[in-house]
Amino acid sequence: MRSAPESLNATIVEAETIAGDVRHLRIRPKSGFTPAEAGSHLDVTVRINGLDRTRSYSVVDDRNGAWTIAVRRLEAGRGGSRFMATLQAGDSLRVTAPKNHFTLSAASPETLLIAGGIGVTPILPMARVLARRAKPRMLYAGRSRATMPFLDELAHLLGDKLSVLAEDQGARIHFPTAFASLHPEGEVYICGPAAMLQAARIAWVQAGRSPALLRFETFGSGGAREAEAFTVYVRDHHRSIAVARDASLFDALVDAGIDLAHDCLRGECGLCAVDVIGAADLDHRCVFLSDEQRRDGHKICACVSRASGEITIDTGFRPTLSRHDDATLMSVG
Ligand code: FES
Repeated sequence: MRSAPESLNATIVEAETIAGDVRHLRIRPKSGFTPAEAGSHLDVTVRINGLDRTRSYSVVDDRNGAWTIAVRRLEAGRGGSRFMATLQAGDSLRVTAPKNHFTLSAASPETLLIAGGIGVTPILPMARVLARRAKPRMLYAGRSRATMPFLDELAHLLGDKLSVLAEDQGARIHFPTAFASLHPEGEVYICGPAAMLQAARIAWVQAGRSPALLRFETFGSGGAREAEAFTVYVRDHHRSIAVARDASLFDALVDAGIDLAHDCLRGECGLCAVDVIGAADLDHRCVFLSDEQRRDGHKICACVSRASGEITIDTGFRPTLSRHDDATLMSVG
């Protein structure tokens, strides 16, 4: 389990809505500002249903002692984006300093950047860094041009190396084609919804490329269906817990006093995966589990994935044996 990082008091110094429903926020810490490498994110304390939660948002830029983030409002999300949409200039916020789990390599012979929707937020700073040497190729997909933030800056940076694929114009990313012309040792950096990342991973493997050269991050929000409330029976704690429509399974368990190992809280690291017992109607929203594991339905990443109806899980908790238990076991053995 990750230790709690230092939380900083900060102020929103600019707030505006861009690309329809994206809140663009500049956040200045009262002290402790540090620059953000491309790919970094801030952990932000958000308030959902009266409770403090942590959500991660990529840093778009770090100019003039403030970090900029951009958050798309997701009605069917876990509640963080709805909170962020309410923030105004002058509001206070608690954030961590930038952390980077999505580091850009300086050694790759060719880099292909791919963004889906608000997944552009960690990719834009990478485009800025790479464009200083040689403009990288970038594919940017979204519902329509009007909903895709930062298009003008990317077009200015990358020129004809930028391909914009808007669904309302019938354009989509065809991953086998995108990967076919990439240098054999080239790297891809991709951020988008989980379904997009799954499609990219399948095409990457089918192209016979090294998994280590496909670098990804997700915002872990999109599922196969709308989020709904469900009930979880935690077998090893003998507890039944309600998971609200706008709460994650992870949050519901922690609120009930059940600790889970975790790190990314975005469906990437797999640390929060728990066993699912028996049949369950699962809506996997992580990128950690393989297709086979998803089909098997024996695991669920509690931080992002959901279920319908009632499911039974086992978190791996086993009570510590008491002295009496020890003595009993020794006498039996
Ligand atoms: S905490 Fe990383 S996948 Fe859930």
